[in-house]
Amino acid sequence: MTAKIVIRGGKKLSGTVTVRGAKNSVLELIPATLLTDEKVILRNVPNLKDIETVCELMKYFGTEINWDKENHTLELQTKVLKSFVAPYEIVKTMRASIYVLGALLGRTGQAQVSFPGGCVLGSRPIDVHLKAMGALGASIKIIHGDIVANAPAVDGTDGVQRLVGAHMKLLIPYGNGTSHGGTVNAILAATLARGKTTIEYASIEPEVDDLINMLNLMGAKITRAKNADEVEMLQIEGVGKLRGCEFSVMPDRIEAVSYAIVGAINGGAIRIENTDATKYEIVLQKLKDAGVAFEVSDNGRTLTVDGERTKLRGTDVETWQYPGFPTDALPQFMTLLSLADGKSRVKENVTSDRFQCVPELRRMGAIADVDEKNPNVMLFTGVADLSSTNVMAADLRSGFALVTAGLFANHGGTTEVLRAYHIFRGYESFVESLRGLGADIEKTFAEE
Ligand code: EPZ
Repeated sequence: MTAKIVIRGGKKLSGTVTVRGAKNSVLELIPATLLTDEKVILRNVPNLKDIETVCELMKYFGTEINWDKENHTLELQTKVLKSFVAPYEIVKTMRASIYVLGALLGRTGQAQVSFPGGCVLGSRPIDVHLKAMGALGASIKIIHGDIVANAPAVDGTDGVQRLVGAHMKLLIPYGNGTSHGGTVNAILAATLARGKTTIEYASIEPEVDDLINMLNLMGAKITRAKNADEVEMLQIEGVGKLRGCEFSVMPDRIEAVSYAIVGAINGGAIRIENTDATKYEIVLQKLKDAGVAFEVSDNGRTLTVDGERTKLRGTDVETWQYPGFPTDALPQFMTLLSLADGKSRVKENVTSDRFQCVPELRRMGAIADVDEKNPNVMLFTGVADLSSTNVMAADLRSGFALVTAGLFANHGGTTEVLRAYHIFRGYESFVESLRGLGADIEKTFAEE
């Protein structure tokens, strides 16, 4: 039996949604707590399946965890590291488990982590991650599907196996972009390394800054800079020890944008609170280009979308690393373009296979075709309505995009979104939140 979402569409939605902490920040902050034996208290932590998964993983290392889900507070402390082995049965379910590689190497100079699994967004290699570990002096072997990494042998000073600061360029080989995860792993490994590390082509995604801010609060010395050619750089002075801290996770920018698109298509007025609109300015620009009526207030902490005054029109969008249009918001935006008057051109430059929701949107009546000249380009012609039917989620973002389409689809029927477990990985209580806006939506179970 797997979870499915059943929606009777066509309701006009209005009300308030509270944005939670950023999943893709918390998934880095939790492994980062391995870098100290003191307690770390994280606030604004969303109640998500992915967070449960990484907490399960941390228990293998001896981490004591106290998660107050009611107050969205998570306390972690690893007084003594019990193991440096990350077991396959957990790592295979979530790609972000790979961050424990850098954290374990940083803490103890040893790590054994199986190759990560997670979303089905095409082949998502970890060559940049391994390049960073190697640059810091780690020996990397692949043994029975596990990455077995060791810091250089003891150099006799303090008797600790420790990585050695180095210079590295973390450009993604073919894509010319920067790697979010590769940068995170490099930071986690370099923070306690001997000496200075400089990382060229470092990711500037806001979640990476959240990690840097927390580590500096713990006593790390990490600063951003640019090289002579204006290339983004990180400078890390290795320190001997980190202390515990209390840290509040940044708001989830993708969750905010996902609900904004729900409002643009199905709204009356939807008020999105506890957000930070400065972290997705390009998405707001694209929403404006697509005819969405919205207002930012309260110094960017509140975004109000007015579906009534929205008149959707086609526009073009290309994804790119921050501050470019986030790939994680593309499936939801494609649902919006399916209903936008006229033509739209969508290009995905970051992940492979981001168009998995398109065949499902077509089942609902969307008109979308791959550009025969470029498989990374999808061309949309807007339709006035979508019809309810059964669709299948392939990952958390495409799943939310299909829910968004189901909320709109009418003809009196119901839309069932199968494999809804994907969506619970990244959207806390989204069924309750949408029901609170007036949606006729429920979670049930289906034979798979
Ligand atoms: C992070 O994944 C996010 N996940 C993804 O969000 C997001 O889509 C992605 O960044 C891009 O913004 C988390 O933060 C947990 P990358 P990550 O390293 O770290 C290539 C969601 O929906 N690449 O920037 O894996 C590869 O093609 C998830 O919340 C290499 O070739 O992103 C990859 O697709 C899905 N070699 C692309 O770059 C490498 O070593 C982007 O990778 C690493 C990446």
